[in-house]
Amino acid sequence: MNKVMVEVPGGAYPVLIGENLLGSVESLLPPDARRVVVVTQESVPYALDFAPRPSKVLLVPPTEAAKKLEVVQDLLEEVAAFGLSRSDAIVALGGGVVSDLAGFVASIYFRGIRYVNVATTLLSQVDAAIGGKTGVNLSTGKNLVGTFWQPSAVVCDVETLSSLADRELSSGFGEMAKYEFLGSGKLDMSDMVGSVTRCVQIKARYVAGDEREGAERAMLNYGHTMGHAIEALGISGAIGYLYHGEAVALGLVFAAHLALVLGRIDVEEVERHYEVVDRFALSSVLPSGVTADAVMAYLARDKKARGSITFVLADRLGSLEVVSGISGSEIQRAIESMRSWPRK
Ligand SMILES: NC(=O)c1ccc[n+]([C@@H]2O[C@H](COP(=O)([O-])OP(=O)(O)OC[C@H]3O[C@@H](n4cnc5c(N)ncnc54)[C@H](O)[C@@H]3O)[C@@H](O)[C@H]2O)c1
Repeated sequence: MNKVMVEVPGGAYPVLIGENLLGSVESLLPPDARRVVVVTQESVPYALDFAPRPSKVLLVPPTEAAKKLEVVQDLLEEVAAFGLSRSDAIVALGGGVVSDLAGFVASIYFRGIRYVNVATTLLSQVDAAIGGKTGVNLSTGKNLVGTFWQPSAVVCDVETLSSLADRELSSGFGEMAKYEFLGSGKLDMSDMVGSVTRCVQIKARYVAGDEREGAERAMLNYGHTMGHAIEALGISGAIGYLYHGEAVALGLVFAAHLALVLGRIDVEEVERHYEVVDRFALSSVLPSGVTADAVMAYLARDKKARGSITFVLADRLGSLEVVSGISGSEIQRAIESMRSWPRK
């Protein structure tokens, strides 16, 4: 088992990565927590035992649709009815939907109680469960309501990944691929404990340096500007539906082409992006419905909020930086570059 500490101003907390870890969750609860509420989904095929502490399992719907204020209200009512006190704890057992929801509930019940994330999807092990961003969606957009509220521990049992649907696992690989551009070195899918640990170390470092997501933590969004636009096009039906990590993989390759068009990187670095995305068996073929107009329409919201369109882009030294003022014609040229790229 590996342990990575996330050093945040309010106190450090451990992320445990290994096999057969579900039995150790109980020992990670705050010693003075007398009662426990587990938030999970029927589709998560695992259970946790907290005996002799009284515990209650609360189920939320198995999809993104669970991330809404009505579900938060129901959870709060049930948590209160169970008699959870200020010193008790919530455990999130599942992927990012569960940890975002349960973490949000933990952050506002009694103005904040402790919670532990037991991450059972690859995406949550390398990303969502760590860093304390919690929240829900509004009809106008994703993650628009939320808090920063750090868990007191995170458990990443890689054995739980064996029951994940293939595309959920692929989606996690898209997020994992991103870490190769943030300094993880080559990640090996046959060593999941080692690979997840290296991703967690990087995420922990960025969170420690920038808990509230200022400029530094924004690097974790590499591949995500275009990724989110593509994901939104999939949700709207303009292109086939893509999972988050699948869209991020396309976003990573797109970011390389945009950097090439801007003269920031060379052809070899673009090839490296393809090599990484290929190695994780993810597609780098841009769906035909991803046009500059469609992307610009999506990014217009970004432009309104920040004054200009912003991407995280690589440079010749292999480091990443936030680049503002990207124009529609540059996006158009990068799309053309990606579509016409000769694949070996
Ligand atoms: N807070 C953050 O920093 C952060 C970061 C990235 C993503 N997110 C959020 O995370 C969410 C996506 O999370 P996700 O990709 O983990 O998906 P998810 O939580 O929706 O889980 C996907 C599906 O897999 C099921 N599942 C979970 N673990 C399983 C297992 N071991 N075996 C079988 N089925 C299992 C779930 O019940 C669900 O139906 C999004 O809402 C996103 O906004 C948050």
